[in-house]
Amino acid sequence: MNSRSCICVSAMKPCCRFLISFRSSSLFGFSPPSSGRLINSSKLHCTKIDSRSIRSGVHCRRFVLDRNDFSDSDSISWGGGSRVLRARGSSSSSSSSRGRGGRGVLLIPRVASDFRNHSSSSLDSHVNDKTFESMFVKPLVFKEVEKTQGRPKKESGNGGGKYANFGNVDVRRETERGSSQNDDEKEAWKLLRGAVVNYCGFPVGTVAANDPGDKQTLNYDQVFIRDFVPSAYAFLLDGEGEIVRNFLLHTLQLQSWEKTVDCHSPGPGLMPASFKVKSEPLEGNDGSFEEFLDPDFGGSAIGRVSPVDSGLWWIILLRAYGKLTGDYTLQERIDVQTGIKLILKLCLADGFDMFPTLLVTDGSCMIDRRMGIHGHPLEIQALFYSALRCAREMLIVNDGTKNLVAAVNNRLSALSFHIREYYWVDIKKINEIYRYNTEEYSADATNKFNIYPDQIPTWLVDWIPDKGGYFIGNLQPAHMDFRFFTLGNLWAVISSLGDQEQNEGVMTLIEEKWDDLVANMPLKICFPALEKDEWRIITGSDPKNTPWSYHNGGSWPTLLWQFTLACIKMGKLELAKKAVAVAEKRLKEDEWPEYYDTKSGRFVGKQSRLYQTWTIAGFLASKKLIEQPEKASLLFWEEDYQLLETCVCGLSRSSGGKNKCLRFTPPRS
Ligand code: GLC
Repeated sequence: MNSRSCICVSAMKPCCRFLISFRSSSLFGFSPPSSGRLINSSKLHCTKIDSRSIRSGVHCRRFVLDRNDFSDSDSISWGGGSRVLRARGSSSSSSSSRGRGGRGVLLIPRVASDFRNHSSSSLDSHVNDKTFESMFVKPLVFKEVEKTQGRPKKESGNGGGKYANFGNVDVRRETERGSSQNDDEKEAWKLLRGAVVNYCGFPVGTVAANDPGDKQTLNYDQVFIRDFVPSAYAFLLDGEGEIVRNFLLHTLQLQSWEKTVDCHSPGPGLMPASFKVKSEPLEGNDGSFEEFLDPDFGGSAIGRVSPVDSGLWWIILLRAYGKLTGDYTLQERIDVQTGIKLILKLCLADGFDMFPTLLVTDGSCMIDRRMGIHGHPLEIQALFYSALRCAREMLIVNDGTKNLVAAVNNRLSALSFHIREYYWVDIKKINEIYRYNTEEYSADATNKFNIYPDQIPTWLVDWIPDKGGYFIGNLQPAHMDFRFFTLGNLWAVISSLGDQEQNEGVMTLIEEKWDDLVANMPLKICFPALEKDEWRIITGSDPKNTPWSYHNGGSWPTLLWQFTLACIKMGKLELAKKAVAVAEKRLKEDEWPEYYDTKSGRFVGKQSRLYQTWTIAGFLASKKLIEQPEKASLLFWEEDYQLLETCVCGLSRSSGGKNKCLRFTPPRS
């Protein structure tokens, strides 16, 4: 076990000593040293020692674990043939940290979007080169981040509870907000702050739910990566960045951690689905205890689902943090750049797959139970595309990253073509599919995926409006999942995965089908529900996912903020306001449920948690976006014409024969 420690002494509150402990893993390519205190798990630790044992009256310094600017020569010693991270004494450590401040962020970033400068060689060569290897050696450092001013009063907490204090900053803001907020918003802010989780006295996230009547908490007392995103947007849009920064850095630490399920470890870029702040007494019974972050990579999750979306959300949030705070130093840090690269490496790794879309298991995203979305679900593809666009803006381009950047650009280009071409349906396209020939063996088949027209579901024939269209839920050989999945369609619009006409079409369809997709509560997670045999076979008779409940056609208020963002992008602010007004009629009165049931979203969900944080945060983020549409514009993307012009397949634009690049066939009429 490798460990380093430093002292934090406070005149204001119980003093604590922070010990952040590492367990080396093969990731770092070195084995644990024989000396040093062993801490029992692959968790991020912070030790608090009883205040009685430390003199008060000394100013508080706080250190967080940081992988930035840590060079072998001054901070890491080598012992016994293995690489050892050694702790410095507290004071020398702090002063040297201060002295080094900022080292490691030396490069003036040349962002990656100017991809004309880069070769289009494959990622393979990149993966094999020395520079790429070095991505996996994450330097570690303690860095002083802040002094006592503005410290949150609550030392730590798993879920903060209703009375958690979120620091002085918020008290001031509360006053400033004054009468501009209605009662719903005031309550929502109070609840959101009550959901804040502190780690060693610093806010690092929000619990999934704070339902006082909840008899079986399961993992709803954890900080979920995806659930925190709307909280983060609400805080950022309210001018509060610290919690988001802390969240990004702490989850980054968890990314590299040991994660094993039944003797198998997934790739090092995986981000956890959730984490929990835990504490345990230290040996010696002297009243001291340690706090640690305990991540779940799916190893404890129901169904052992792998959170493919976590890393994508992390990248999306990292960009949003920079855009909304103007603090770009975070994304420029070496450790953060490494984190981005690790996620990309995992997503861009070659496999058996023929498509540019990501191949994932069922339940790998917001829908984290069996719902027949394994394969190439739209939600993952839209988040993947969004994350690639974010990464392209944030990656610092140098010799070590240029191949990766080229790979990102190639994938963006191929992915948008694939989704626009094969996932899009409107009445015209459905009519085409209805008349498809099948069993076409050739490179230029029309029905490339051999879709049998009988697959067109009867509900769709009546449902598809004359105007508008949408991206289908999934595409596999001989299989189109025609269900409408809201999150994927919204992110296709937000990220311009769809073209302008398609993006407009999605918004039109939502308006046309308002009674099905919004009705009494925005918005349906998917439409329609699986019923009868389909429910039995596809969900495995899941009693939570019965028709029009939970993931199976339930209505999820957290989707509101993403709808609002898409509306603002597409110039439909009034539509966003209309949806928010629908939600506002119910949410406070119903105690902020996680989801609603029934075809029109009239009932609070059967097993729905109350005081669900992302319901509260989604509502607040929507309000903030509507108030500040100019800020919303920092959070979506317009069409990237460079991507459209570039094709990396090597086939010619116009050769007429079968080797012509499909990208340049005449546009859809
Ligand atoms: C449910 C949702 C998932 C969410 C979690 C915590 O499992 O399906 O998307 O992250 O609850 O709220």
